[in-house]
Amino acid sequence: MQGERLITVNGKHFHYSWLRDNCLCPECRDPNSFQKIYDISEAQSPPEPLSVVEEEDTLTITWKEQPIHQSIFPTSWLMAQVNELDTSEESLNKITLWNKAELEKEPILRHDFPNCDADMWVNQLFSLGFTILENIQSTQELESLVCSIGPVYETYYGRLIPVKPIKGTKAVDLAYASVYPLLPHTDFTYLNAGRVLQFLYCVEHNASGGESIVVDGYRVAKDFRQNYPEYFNVLAETPVHFKQFDLHSQYYLCNINPILKLNQKGEVSEIYFSHKNCKPNLKFDKIESFYEAYRAFFKYLKSSDYQYLYRLKAGDCLVIQNFRILHGRTAYDANHGTRHLEGIFLDWDYFKGRHHFKQFQHLY
Ligand SMILES: [Fe+2]
Repeated sequence: MQGERLITVNGKHFHYSWLRDNCLCPECRDPNSFQKIYDISEAQSPPEPLSVVEEEDTLTITWKEQPIHQSIFPTSWLMAQVNELDTSEESLNKITLWNKAELEKEPILRHDFPNCDADMWVNQLFSLGFTILENIQSTQELESLVCSIGPVYETYYGRLIPVKPIKGTKAVDLAYASVYPLLPHTDFTYLNAGRVLQFLYCVEHNASGGESIVVDGYRVAKDFRQNYPEYFNVLAETPVHFKQFDLHSQYYLCNINPILKLNQKGEVSEIYFSHKNCKPNLKFDKIESFYEAYRAFFKYLKSSDYQYLYRLKAGDCLVIQNFRILHGRTAYDANHGTRHLEGIFLDWDYFKGRHHFKQFQHLY
């Protein structure tokens, strides 16, 4: 036993330090909050077992401590921990990357909100990064859906953000200027918003044009990385400024992020892209190489191979992971017809947390 620092259960390795640290007994882990009480930094030496008894359903370890201490781990709990530890946050829920052709093979993209199985659209949101809910009666109904999951992420635009041309006023954002197409972008690049989920609800749409566009940023980044690895590295390694100068509300907002943010595994985890807000303040010798990469990536985002276009109708709600999916719309004529959307945001942590609670509550 001496010298061995780990044990193998069902082919999976567990370090004694980790097992001791995660003892499930009520002295070591508070049974109400499930938080850790045991303080491993107080141990005189690295945890060492006196005895280990492996039975069919449990692993019992008696620790060489004064007084001796016993930990009992259900095998199912240990296996579930491995699954959670082995998998990155992104792959914990299966992700399907898509381009336009692949997406069009998906059997169901729209879900009848009042009557559908909620798991269907929630799983699709995790997998594709977006989903479409139909037949939501009102913004109030949408707001109560969001509030049932977590607090609304509010910005200076308000709690519900109207997306429509404002008559008699000059647009403070191109999102409100119908004459221009709105190129694929992520929202709030100029705020330190983190990962948010966007609900874009259609109140009315009878204008000609104004089709919504969604692009899978993860998929584009993957192909881009394969074809232009050097450009990919430039976008992953160059922090750029995103700015919003709002004359009406008197804010000059700025946030700095690389366009492609990587996780610890080197995978793209967040995309910050909004051409209308991107104002790189780069060192002179970095500008040429940055713009070369930027232009190439932007062309990918605008390629029809990646853009899924569809027309929102009243009662539809497009739900998108703002850190993965880029969204936009085609131009439309605001003088003939109305296109009125309302946007509401929720911190992704709460959405994910609620989903994981349902998935993992049996472990606690
Ligand atoms: Fe937007």
